[in-house]
Amino acid sequence: MNKTILVTGGTGYIGSHTVVALQEKGYKVIIADNLANSEKEVIYNIEKISHVLPQFEPIDLANEQACEALFNKYSINAVIHFAAYKYVNESVNNPLRYYKNNLISLLNVLNEMKKHNICNIVFSSSCTVYGTPDTLPVTETSPVKKSMSPYGNTKQVAEEILEDNCKADRHLKVISLRYFNPIGAHPSIKIGETAKGIPQNLLPYLTQTVIGKREFLSVFGNDYNTPDGTCIRDYIHVMDLAYAHVCAIERMLHMGSDINYEVFNVGTGKGYSVLEIIQTFEKVTGMKVNFQFKGRREGDIAQIWADTSLANKVLKWEALYALEDMLLSAWKWEKELAKS
Ligand code: WQD
Repeated sequence: MNKTILVTGGTGYIGSHTVVALQEKGYKVIIADNLANSEKEVIYNIEKISHVLPQFEPIDLANEQACEALFNKYSINAVIHFAAYKYVNESVNNPLRYYKNNLISLLNVLNEMKKHNICNIVFSSSCTVYGTPDTLPVTETSPVKKSMSPYGNTKQVAEEILEDNCKADRHLKVISLRYFNPIGAHPSIKIGETAKGIPQNLLPYLTQTVIGKREFLSVFGNDYNTPDGTCIRDYIHVMDLAYAHVCAIERMLHMGSDINYEVFNVGTGKGYSVLEIIQTFEKVTGMKVNFQFKGRREGDIAQIWADTSLANKVLKWEALYALEDMLLSAWKWEKELAKS
């Protein structure tokens, strides 16, 4: 009997790619999403790839009654919890919106899991929990430091909530995946990053500039203590990130572990600067990126990239796509969006 996975935030960027990866592995998927940062049509594009239409529930998980009704309606074996607001700089300007949405939705999901004796949850965490790291690459034992943004702090607090619940309930199994910077689109170019409004992240803003939707790309700071003065990040193909979730679910449901709270870095282990992203994008696409250096963005750190050896060893997962693949798929996706 195929196991059923509830994917909260499943019409979002990483969520939708993870739904495809889960379906290809034979899992039945239910998506719960309030469509705050995504469109319902994503479920039909998922179906075009996997030939399976995921069950979709348009609900706000921060609404306790709606969350209760969801868990009463389905028999769920595991949860992957993506549903959260995710913009670093937006969270600096509107912290209350981030704390309310990101933490109450998690608490409601955990409460319903407890009521229905659902023991498995994979949590979408972030490398921002490391704040400004003292040493690089960061490992899972690198100190969690005061986050530079309310967004990052919601991830830190969420991890503490999960860890405390695992201490209190040995049957609860949690895997927190600390993402680095997901970019790119599914090879079919039927799903990709579709943020509403003005893109906050580098890649969608870059591709929108190249396609002509934006006048120029602002490079936020070129006076950091890095080789070319711009920030360094560990960019990972969204499909590699999606497969990491499948590996986490497989570990929970099939391999088992005597540790009920685990954390894994999900990156590539390589860091690239903003200028290197621009130069590599121009190389693989033949397109020119019109950019201007601007001041630093509040909440940004200079550089971070992952030590991924624990995920490689324990989850039996590794990132397979190269930076060129990531950037080319992002560009193909932007051109696909321009057709609609
Ligand atoms: C990357 C670099 C910017 C936009 C956050 C979250 C992380 C993940 C991804 C969800 C930085 C620079 C950006 C622009 C720029 N969230 N930049 N011009 O802030 O590293 O990570 O988003 O999955 O958890 O922390 O990503 O893409 O916003 O920025 O120069 O128009 O690009 O300063 O150095 P970030 P980002």
